[in-house]
Amino acid sequence: MPLDLVPLHPLFVAEVRGLDLRTTPDAATCDAIHRGMDRYGVLVFRDQHLDDDQQMAFGEALGPLEQERGVVDVHKNRLKFHNMADISNLDVDGSLLAADDRRRMFNLGNQLWHSDSSFKPTPAKYSMLHGRVVPPNGADTEFADMRAVWDALPEAMKAEVKDLITHHSLLYSRAQLGFSEYTEEERERFAPVRQRLVRWHPGSQRHSIYLSSHIGQIEGMPRPEAMMLIRNLREFATQRQFVYAHQWRQNDLVIWDNRATMHRARPFEDKTYKRDMRRVTLRDIAPTLEQPLPAPLPQAAE
Ligand code: OGA
Ligand code: MN
Repeated sequence: MPLDLVPLHPLFVAEVRGLDLRTTPDAATCDAIHRGMDRYGVLVFRDQHLDDDQQMAFGEALGPLEQERGVVDVHKNRLKFHNMADISNLDVDGSLLAADDRRRMFNLGNQLWHSDSSFKPTPAKYSMLHGRVVPPNGADTEFADMRAVWDALPEAMKAEVKDLITHHSLLYSRAQLGFSEYTEEERERFAPVRQRLVRWHPGSQRHSIYLSSHIGQIEGMPRPEAMMLIRNLREFATQRQFVYAHQWRQNDLVIWDNRATMHRARPFEDKTYKRDMRRVTLRDIAPTLEQPLPAPLPQAAE
């Protein structure tokens, strides 16, 4: 069954009409959603009145879920499922987090451009974020199309970066905000991991550039040079033509492919208004360095 898709941006992102995800889609529909994800990178489903069980069931129908959450104070869990990410400004009792709460400081890191779980050895495939309570102003989520960015990079830059290996850690992204207080356990859990800077996206047979604010190092390069290169690539990648801003409505479900896009949260009055979003995350198949690259083109005979 083909999906009813309405593009929302010239390059990527589409809205999917006509599905009620309270009932877990059958295999053929899941297959069509995967094809839609391969093409668009971000899919928006409006008016989905999901509870946690239904959101988890839909995630599991699309593929294996991540089990661990990359957060501080991991024992302070508001949600029923340990592997559902709490993307809210709420405390365990549902009240607003205190202005100086460590989790609030840490969560501000979501406003840096990133790809989910790029700091884990096997990173995230899809993220599925559901808007339960949406504040009145701001709080958009922005997405950048990293396959279109790769295509648009100058050839000399492609050649310079294509084999680079980066190190990703939550410690690196949060350090950019001056957040540096961790327990020993957190420091170990957030130890850097190695990832490719340029990935191959099998479902679309395209390359993408794997940028994330979690990057803090490029192998074989002095650190200031590495960080300047990453900053320049990010500035290129976030030019307006590559970016879609999602304005949330209550009960939107947005799915994005972390292998082909990066994203960031935008600010809102988080000390005044509640925002309750919940994320189910699918894991990728392997660390990026262990994933297949395209077969090299046969050399033309001289
Ligand atoms: C996330 C995330 C952005 C937002 O859920 O991974 O980065 O706008 N969310 O909440
Ligand atoms: Mn995120």
